[in-house]
Amino acid sequence: MKLPHFGTPRLLQKLQWVMNPVGYMESHARRYPDLFQAEVVGFGNSLVFVSHPQAIQYILTHENKQLSVPGKVNGIVEPLVGEYSVIMLEGDRHRRQRQLLMPPFHGDRMKSYGEMIREIAVAVLSQVPTSQPFIARSVMAQISSQVMLQTVFGLDLNGENYHKLKKLMTLMLEVFNTPAASSLLFFKQLQVDLGRWSPWGYFLRMREKIDKLLYAEISNRRQQDLSDRSDILSLLISARDAEGEAMTDKELRDELLTLLFAGYETTASAMSWALYWVHAIPEVENRLREEMATLGDNPAPMDIFGLPYLTAVCNEVLRLYPVGMLTFPRRVEEPIDLLGYSLEVGTDLVGCIYLLHHREDLYPDSYQFKPERFLERQFSPYEFMPFGGGKRRCIGAVLAAYEMKLVLATILSGYDLKLEEKSPVKPQRRGVTLSPAGGIKMVKVGDRTKVERLLVNSVR
Ligand code: HEM
Repeated sequence: MKLPHFGTPRLLQKLQWVMNPVGYMESHARRYPDLFQAEVVGFGNSLVFVSHPQAIQYILTHENKQLSVPGKVNGIVEPLVGEYSVIMLEGDRHRRQRQLLMPPFHGDRMKSYGEMIREIAVAVLSQVPTSQPFIARSVMAQISSQVMLQTVFGLDLNGENYHKLKKLMTLMLEVFNTPAASSLLFFKQLQVDLGRWSPWGYFLRMREKIDKLLYAEISNRRQQDLSDRSDILSLLISARDAEGEAMTDKELRDELLTLLFAGYETTASAMSWALYWVHAIPEVENRLREEMATLGDNPAPMDIFGLPYLTAVCNEVLRLYPVGMLTFPRRVEEPIDLLGYSLEVGTDLVGCIYLLHHREDLYPDSYQFKPERFLERQFSPYEFMPFGGGKRRCIGAVLAAYEMKLVLATILSGYDLKLEEKSPVKPQRRGVTLSPAGGIKMVKVGDRTKVERLLVNSVR
């Protein structure tokens, strides 16, 4: 059977995909709910979008001889992350690099970040003026950039490099903050340096400044005794592969940028949606507060992490508007049959996370925010997959979920916030991710709270 596809001219499909990805996916899914051939731009010209759970399961459990996990096809992110990024690698090199990167994102290491995440949330929220509207996404981006800079780099909060990097990272990624500006990443023809006032020229100059700081930090760290440091940069510098080789400066720089790029914007958008939904639906807010009250004053971060309703709320946030709309592509290496379609060697497939999460057979009233779904039913990793799956599954999934829950719980127990939006907030493209359009306007109501007074001094 021939793969289903719309007759719309390729260029129009590409433009719609960049400018209005949600409209693009939804219009296709109405006709082809399980799988379709998409003429998009970014990860190669032609991709098969797959949103049927069994087909996704097949793909992610056959990443061996039948399907490969290509790297070069992800060239759209290369300007952001560099050629040695784990995202750009494939085969054995990809596997080895993941082995180096994974340990710092798991288990005990994660626990040690708990207090720090809460302190950062309090310090940032305490700077938000009372009774004046603020943009939730900017505030959440401040939190997630600080968390990244501390977990990934282990930078001193009061150090000069910390402040410089924080500012530069925000400025660099702000270049792609709207669908139109995101087209810079998608259309190589637009990537022309016309001086520092042109968008691409500005991006390149920001990246150059970031590089200088990163290389200085790497060189500085190489001269230190790293034995008692737990940040990811120090662990990567000390790591050796199976042949006993250490990572080069360029490899380290690319991996650091990858973690910042993959971890900072995504988590900021997810936390902003969380604030939005919780404050848009009073029953959700009340139930969360009640659940948190069961832990008493000053609960341990891991107890917060384990709260069932908070977990359901965060899952529902990541389901409804998944920040990563697609998995990275997988490539057919041997002819396969998928849902009755014969796929040729060389076909690139992506799991369409957005459409999977809006299947009415899995999630009735899929546009309604209903955390109860996750309490009433267990979803398989091929039915709910905000972090992708298989060999490229998100490395930062546990850190992101931990951060989301701790920040949401800290904000709810310490501050009264209110939504200042008059109509429902819609998702919109931001670079290669999906983010709340306009960033969500909110206001902080009331005075400083107990938690703020307790914690803020220890951060300063
Ligand atoms: C809510 C936040 C996040 C979401 C929704 C998200 C989502 C995703 C998705 C969908 C993928 C593609 C998986 C696939 O192709 O199967 C991915 C990959 C990746 N993510 Fe995340 N992510 C988040 C946060 C983070 C954080 C905090 C980090 C690290 C600090 C991170 C690092 C990565 C890396 C390195 C990859 C590429 C892995 C590889 O190529 O092997 N992400 N993420």
